[in-house]
Amino acid sequence: MSAKRITASGIAARKAAGERVACLTCYDYSMARVLDESGVDLILVGDSVGNVVQGYETTFPVTLDEMIYHTRAVARGSSHAHICLDLPFMTFQVSPEQAVLSAGRAIQEGGAQSVKIEGGRAAATTVARVIDAGIPVLGHIGYLPQSANVLRRKRLADTESVREALLADARSLEHAGCYAIVLEVVSRTLAAAVTAEVSIPTIGLGSGPHCDGQVLNLYDMLGLGLGKTLKHNKRYAELDEVIEAAVRSYADEVRQGLFPSEEQAFE
Ligand code: KIV
Repeated sequence: MSAKRITASGIAARKAAGERVACLTCYDYSMARVLDESGVDLILVGDSVGNVVQGYETTFPVTLDEMIYHTRAVARGSSHAHICLDLPFMTFQVSPEQAVLSAGRAIQEGGAQSVKIEGGRAAATTVARVIDAGIPVLGHIGYLPQSANVLRRKRLADTESVREALLADARSLEHAGCYAIVLEVVSRTLAAAVTAEVSIPTIGLGSGPHCDGQVLNLYDMLGLGLGKTLKHNKRYAELDEVIEAAVRSYADEVRQGLFPSEEQAFE
């Protein structure tokens, strides 16, 4: 695998080249090595670390220090994929200055090459300031987990007003300079409309086949206990079963005195 990292502008250019973007979340060194070797384009160190690694119900408790810790590990495990740190709750909402400082830490301390910021038109000024500071931004519209306490439902209704609002959000993020936009649980027709509207790639999570790229949660797609009931998720493996079988075999062998055998013993 080439040591040259994919840049934010490289991701943006995929759309004009007619190439889709493959994105996965990742939170640690070992998994990052596998993802990088597998040729994934974009690794998102998502604040979903709060759900799948830390065991919280929401992403609210995740801190910037924790995101930097996980991003550093992912950066050490990869040399090709573009790494984006997902700015967690209350690290950019207060002011554009706060966002620039947080994004700066993501780059300097975390080793990320870009940050993700949730929000459409409301976040556009902040997004533009972060980009002015030299830090590429991945936008995120549709369902916004960090606004879960003020949203009435997870999936947006496909009405004319929702469509106009979503298109306006997408246009404002493109205008602010985002290199791509995550669309979370947007209906496939709305996602198709947004994708046709902007010149930067849309990266869908549960938003149908018409997006310019896709993102899935790594734990969900590997079948690591979670994501079983998520309609948008596809389990490409059943790792919870593989791990459980391996751990059972190990425990049985330890109890029966079969492990370690001569093969694993030193003189
Ligand atoms: O943290 C995350 O996993 C995300 C996805 C919803 C894109 O932000």
